[in-house]
Amino acid sequence: MKHFSLHNVKSIYSTRLLAFTILVVLSACDRGPNQSKNVSSQSIVSVVPTFDLSEHKTAGGITHKRLYASYLYPGEKLNNKQKLNFWSGFSFFRDPWVAAPSATGNRDGLGPLFNTRSCIACHTAGSRAKIDEAGHILPLSLVVRLGSKDSSIKDVDPIYGGQIQPRAISYRLTDTEIIEKYPYTDNVGEAWLDKSYSKIEGTFADGEPYELLKPNYQLSKLAYGELAPHIGISVRLAPNIFGMGLLNAIKTDDLLEQEDSNDSDGNGISAKYNRVPNVITNVIEVGRFGFKAKHPNLHQQVAAAFRDDIGITNSSFVNESCTARQVACNYAAEYGGHSLADLEIPNNRLDLVVTFNELLGVPPARKLQSKTVQAGRTLFYQLNCQQCHTPSYVTDEAYPVKALAKQTIWPYTDLALHDMGEGLADGVYEFNANGHEWRTAPLWGIGLQQYTTGQQRFLHDGRARTISEAILWHGGEAEPVKKAYVALTKQQREALIKFVKAI
Ligand code: HEC
Ligand code: HEC
Repeated sequence: MKHFSLHNVKSIYSTRLLAFTILVVLSACDRGPNQSKNVSSQSIVSVVPTFDLSEHKTAGGITHKRLYASYLYPGEKLNNKQKLNFWSGFSFFRDPWVAAPSATGNRDGLGPLFNTRSCIACHTAGSRAKIDEAGHILPLSLVVRLGSKDSSIKDVDPIYGGQIQPRAISYRLTDTEIIEKYPYTDNVGEAWLDKSYSKIEGTFADGEPYELLKPNYQLSKLAYGELAPHIGISVRLAPNIFGMGLLNAIKTDDLLEQEDSNDSDGNGISAKYNRVPNVITNVIEVGRFGFKAKHPNLHQQVAAAFRDDIGITNSSFVNESCTARQVACNYAAEYGGHSLADLEIPNNRLDLVVTFNELLGVPPARKLQSKTVQAGRTLFYQLNCQQCHTPSYVTDEAYPVKALAKQTIWPYTDLALHDMGEGLADGVYEFNANGHEWRTAPLWGIGLQQYTTGQQRFLHDGRARTISEAILWHGGEAEPVKKAYVALTKQQREALIKFVKAI
């Protein structure tokens, strides 16, 4: 069986060869007055791969059969031991942490600064928690990351670190000697977020209007003084976390084969991989996890979430997120009684949570063979969505967890960074990712979000309320593709979206 992700589609076609098809496809559409006549020759591809039955089983043996209620199920083909570990890990993902010292030594160590008390509070049903409303808010599901706006200073903020933790366990400094030298006596949450929306109006080529919501963000009530001048904010809504083990199991070579940072093939798309430190080995590796691919593997991503989001130290991130200026935070950490030798989550439990994330299944594709979905599938390839949303891989056969090895999977992502234009830009760096770049979002399973969480939110900060809006926000390298989408007829747009919802 062939996987066109890397071979059939990515490398074989030449964009010049495709110009002909564009004309054919576009002349079949109703042309509206706003349609760009200049749809770039890169925007339509003639190679629509033959439908492959494995497309039904998005995640190979890690596909599960449950639909609608939740994304939180282990893959079908796991053995009982794996399922047991999955559910044990799940309990640490679900249950809230409390401040130390406490009677429940297993789950204490919360904070001193934190975002929420549990993983599930942000990753509801394995997906995205209810997005925080606009207004003056103490954010819950939205995470404000801090990064440098300046390529020459890549440091995070000297006072607030790399992330705003809006909450804190209560602790007050009592030592007068310290209080005299230090302006803040209490361990308090770092900031509030002011969020508002401005409307952007637009029209499809067929004359149908659309409206997008552009979020505006500002931090307020900064509790420990101003941010450093080079620091900018990047607001993110907790992403889906199913299928992560399989993304971890893609061979690095299969990713790097797609790299084209300087666009040497001249197709307007420059897949670039972030290069990030592995915090255990200090080796620089390809980044895979997080909206800018900041972490090289799932273990590090989960360990970082414990420390950064909940304030739970572990063997990968041994220090609390208190900076030197946050004196009360440092004292509170000591008061909790956890020392380096006594990490707040020991390795065996951290590993269970990693296992839970790793074995988290993916729902199967639905109604893929219906006529409309097939028409949408054709458009997906003709519009060139697959240039970034790489459909398929076979995972590494040497991956240590057998159930995840050598699986044919359909995640629809290259895990690479792309310049997505000014509209989506946050202006901050994360290692090699710049302020315009984002990692291609996986598309598997996203069509069930409405059923499982009662909400549909897309893109890094959840600004898009529908898949159509998500596509309309695509810019930068994806500008020609977006334009081609705008030029489609209503029927074609609906078919494309049905396909995205079906995978
Ligand atoms: C306060 C909300 C919040 C909490 C709590 C939280 N996360 Fe996340 N999670 C996020 C955000 C936001 C991201 C994206 C981070 C980035 O872009 O760097 C993320 C990313 C992830 C990813 C990577 C997803 C991907 O597509 O790359 C995984 C896996 C994950 N979290 C697991 C966890 C686990 C396990 C916990 C508990 C230990 C947890 N998260 C707690 C908000 C949260
Ligand atoms: C140049 C690369 C590129 C192309 C081409 C592209 N995308 Fe994307 N797509 C991305 C990136 C990067 C993101 C994440 C952006 C963000 O989070 O702000 C994304 C996000 C999405 C999302 C939101 C997913 C979610 O869960 O948040 C959808 C839906 C989507 N793309 C569909 C499409 C479709 C359909 C096409 C073709 C019409 C397409 N994309 C073409 C790079 C691309």
